[in-house]
Amino acid sequence: MDGINNSMKKLSMIAIDGPAASGKSTLAFRLARSLSYLYFDTGLMYRAVTWLALDRHLDIKDEDAIVRLAEQTPIDVSAPSLDDGRPCDVIVEGRDITWEIRKLEVDANVSAVSAYAGVRKALTVQQRRIGLRGKVVMVGRDIGTVVLPDADLKIYLDASAEERARRRYQEILDRGGEADYEVILRKVIERDYLDSTRAIAPLKPADDAIILDSDQMDADTVFETAFDLCK
Ligand code: DC
Repeated sequence: MDGINNSMKKLSMIAIDGPAASGKSTLAFRLARSLSYLYFDTGLMYRAVTWLALDRHLDIKDEDAIVRLAEQTPIDVSAPSLDDGRPCDVIVEGRDITWEIRKLEVDANVSAVSAYAGVRKALTVQQRRIGLRGKVVMVGRDIGTVVLPDADLKIYLDASAEERARRRYQEILDRGGEADYEVILRKVIERDYLDSTRAIAPLKPADDAIILDSDQMDADTVFETAFDLCK
């Protein structure tokens, strides 16, 4: 193990980007655990702002109000306090919203919220501060391109919309929920479009990213391939 750690010690910032449900969070979590690095999912922050805006019945189209919310609300992401499958706790204003931010209503509005320049600025500053401390596996859409352009390793994890919708559908069923595959597929395609065509920090691989396609690889193979890249 020491040998592995020694050969990896220069890799301090690992950026993992990709579209919704490509498996990037699972990959980042496993890599972070294997390397004893911090796992940080930046999507949680965009989801937390969206959830709070909906909870306060704000108009998602009211850019000024949403940006103020992102600037003023501390989002606390910490190690999991419950053994219910969560990779971390997400706490806002003393409320545990870890599962709330996964709801379809948040899915439907988070692309609009994350397209606002002021929201991205407020959250990017926090993400960069955490990333530059090093020993981090950071996951999102713009980590390799904007948040940590100097990351030591950049992976862009891709998969077809159909495969990603199938995974999200299964995830909901596994948690005891109900879902319609066709609806999920439509929303995945819609969100891809919004995330990759927005003006600021659109979803795209960094020029120096290594692209992995997880359609033909199960989670273990994706992990092993990425882990080899860390050596
Ligand atoms: O990875 P996710 O599905 O939890 O991300 C939720 C939304 O947040 C997604 O639609 C795009 C946005 N996002 C972003 O714009 N930039 C990031 N670094 C992470 C997420």
